[in-house]
Amino acid sequence: MDTGEKFCPRQDLDLDTTLQFLPAPNAKKLEKKPGHRRLWMGVGFVLAAVALSLLTGLLVWRFHLRSDVAVTRVYVGSMEIVKQRFLPAYEDSSSIQFSKLSSLVSQQLQAIYSKNAVLLKYFTRSSVDAFSDGGGDSVMAYYQSEFDIPAPQQASVDAAIKSLQTPAQSQQSRQGRVLVKPDDSLNINSVVTRAIDPRMTSSSLLVKKSFNVHVQEGGIIQSPGFPDSSYPSSVYLQWRMRADPAHRVRLDFDTLILEDNCQNDFVKIYDSLAPIEHAAITEHCGFPHHSLSFVSSGNVMLLTLVTNKEKNFPGFRANYSQVSRGPPAGCGGTLSSDVGFFSSPFFPSSYPPRTTCVWNIQVSNDKLVKLEFRKFYVGNDSSDCSRDYVEVNGQRLCGAKAGSTVVASRSNVMTVKFNSDSSYVDRGFVADFEAFVPSDPCPGRFRCNNELCVDLSLRCDGMDDCKDASDEDDCTCEASHMRCENGRCKAKFWACDGVDDCGDNSDESNCGACTSSEFRCRNGPCVPSAMVCDRKEDCTDGSDESKCEKSAAMTVCSDLSFRCRDGGCVNKVNPECDDEEDCKDASDEESCQCGLRPYRSSRIVGGQVSQEGEWPWQVSLHAGGKGHVCGASLLSHRWLLTAAHCVQDKGPTRYSQADQWEAFLGQHTQSSANKWTVRRKVRRIVVHRHFDPVTFDNDVALMELDSDVPLNQHIWPICLPSPTHHFPSGRQAWITGWGATREGGVAASVLQKAEVRIINSSVCNSLMKNEVTDGMLCAGVLKGGVDACQGDSGGPLSVTSQSGRVFLAGVVSWGDGCARRNKPGVYTRVTKYRNWIKEHSGV
Ligand code: ARG
Repeated sequence: MDTGEKFCPRQDLDLDTTLQFLPAPNAKKLEKKPGHRRLWMGVGFVLAAVALSLLTGLLVWRFHLRSDVAVTRVYVGSMEIVKQRFLPAYEDSSSIQFSKLSSLVSQQLQAIYSKNAVLLKYFTRSSVDAFSDGGGDSVMAYYQSEFDIPAPQQASVDAAIKSLQTPAQSQQSRQGRVLVKPDDSLNINSVVTRAIDPRMTSSSLLVKKSFNVHVQEGGIIQSPGFPDSSYPSSVYLQWRMRADPAHRVRLDFDTLILEDNCQNDFVKIYDSLAPIEHAAITEHCGFPHHSLSFVSSGNVMLLTLVTNKEKNFPGFRANYSQVSRGPPAGCGGTLSSDVGFFSSPFFPSSYPPRTTCVWNIQVSNDKLVKLEFRKFYVGNDSSDCSRDYVEVNGQRLCGAKAGSTVVASRSNVMTVKFNSDSSYVDRGFVADFEAFVPSDPCPGRFRCNNELCVDLSLRCDGMDDCKDASDEDDCTCEASHMRCENGRCKAKFWACDGVDDCGDNSDESNCGACTSSEFRCRNGPCVPSAMVCDRKEDCTDGSDESKCEKSAAMTVCSDLSFRCRDGGCVNKVNPECDDEEDCKDASDEESCQCGLRPYRSSRIVGGQVSQEGEWPWQVSLHAGGKGHVCGASLLSHRWLLTAAHCVQDKGPTRYSQADQWEAFLGQHTQSSANKWTVRRKVRRIVVHRHFDPVTFDNDVALMELDSDVPLNQHIWPICLPSPTHHFPSGRQAWITGWGATREGGVAASVLQKAEVRIINSSVCNSLMKNEVTDGMLCAGVLKGGVDACQGDSGGPLSVTSQSGRVFLAGVVSWGDGCARRNKPGVYTRVTKYRNWIKEHSGV
């Protein structure tokens, strides 16, 4: 399958003509003297051996015993030159004007460093990389300075550099100060210098190249070779983006797929044209699972890509544009209504660095203000929130907050301040506010302990809607529910299923009491303790062998073992793609470029609208020009899995013919095309030979697309479970689709999602008149109200594994009506068809 393989770099990248090679360390050649006598050769050999040991000793002494060997350390910085008009020629490093101004900057830096004894001693040279228009009469210079520093002195040089006062900072009264000869002098306003990210000066970097980009017109930046081949190895590439004065640079990634390890390959973005750490606004590697969009504070931005030798991936593509400066729209202001909302500047884009916004909320006199953050990603969580933060009535909030956070005021006014510092931005926040009467904070709704208000119908439904579970406290449980010790009601069949549903584990205690010399299998029964880790599976779910030492667990194979490619067995439950190598040949971790998704958050019928990119494996299948007919799941660049009943001829429509179908990937809304949507014709349909249109047994079909689809944040395959993958009953699962939102209803426009639970097969069979076969799996909410429905067929039943990856547990197949009480949805059990999928698609 394509998705598991690394991209191989193509050799014909159009980089070579303009490449600049970094100096590689000099390899001194050994001279060979002509000689023919054996004696001389022997003597020569002895001498060479002596010389080699001397050299080795010298090197050991030089690098291990002597600590004063100088190492070149590179610092990067920016300098604001005032009373200097920006010239277009300053962007061209080969122009005379560029050289002239650069040498003045270098002199200026020399003068600054020479005032500090430590810096003077080790300074070697400075060079200017770029200039930008500082607006008004000023120019920004971006430079590098090198110091040859003995190792023990490095810290003191770092400290000296950090303490450097700019002329303006030391002489606040004067605007700039002349530091070198009056005739050639520069007026300097601010100088900032910091050590460069060491990954950018690695000796293994062979190619360094910079590109100048004017963002005014808008356009695309992509890694070399994108999307046809992977990015090149061992490069350090820079894109210097300049907007017009009084504008900001905006960069939106549509794809970013790099190696997972940021020590090897990464992109880093700066709010400057120099890669200066305190202006670094973000760094990414791997496959980030949220949208990546950034805005600068000034008129420049630097995008860097650093790669190492191994493992090259597709790379990135981003759109650039400019937005006018000035305070960002919606940044602060007076909000004087009783309900409203606001968000961090440029939301859903990341907020820019160096930004402060203040909102003053004022509601009717006799009311108080309640503020609810629906989304909150504001920098790192630190105790003092000293960097990026939101301050509500003097109380600072920072970090990432799952679910909703509610803050209430004690008067009818509330002040909210947002602040970002110079580096590392985040996705920001969305806040709703409303006025409330203190005596009745949630009119007509249920009041959660955390002050959130939820619909009354959500109370005591077995789901935590308040996010603090207070809507599930003090409930009177109905007949099909049990009562937890903490007062919550949960469906009876969730008892003793190995999942703590109550939250206090009371549903998992007193489960058919195993004696002290017994082990309780995860699926319920008791086995003698001596059978645990005896290399034989005594529990039918294998749980007695699943937590044993690898060596013990590796050898014995049973029907429940995971099979490695080399024939070896792993008796751990669900070892595939769990980021741990369990097979000797590591085959359990192969083909794992799947199942990672943008949002890992917590109701089709009873569902709710999903976020864009939340279900990147969800596919909409259109047929016969009639629009959406069925769902499907993306398995690889080329293969989809759907339901066999979707591809049966019905009346005049030849659903069984590949040419009738078109797959829409990256789709969110049915009514309108979105920019992520990719359409593909279907080349081939493989229907399970034993699909039974009466019983719906073996309701599974594969579709091959007519050409590969590019994978990105919005289009990504789901992981296929191995035949022995265990999905325990009670496990949470998600169903998604554009099907009807109620029985007999009409199809949804925006992709819906709903949370269901996997239901024990014998319980399900008793509810479904014994119509559930081995190839089917039930999931739903027995209380009713949540289910898949007409038009969801073929779509995924997604289960998130312990490691965070999403596996395809089922394919929407059939049900008794939709969302009826005690009528779960029935899905095709994917584990049962895992080998069939491999056999017919290679995936
Ligand atoms: N068979 C239906 C379809 O073609 C979907 C069945 C799912 N029904 C249910 N209650 N889960 O779209």
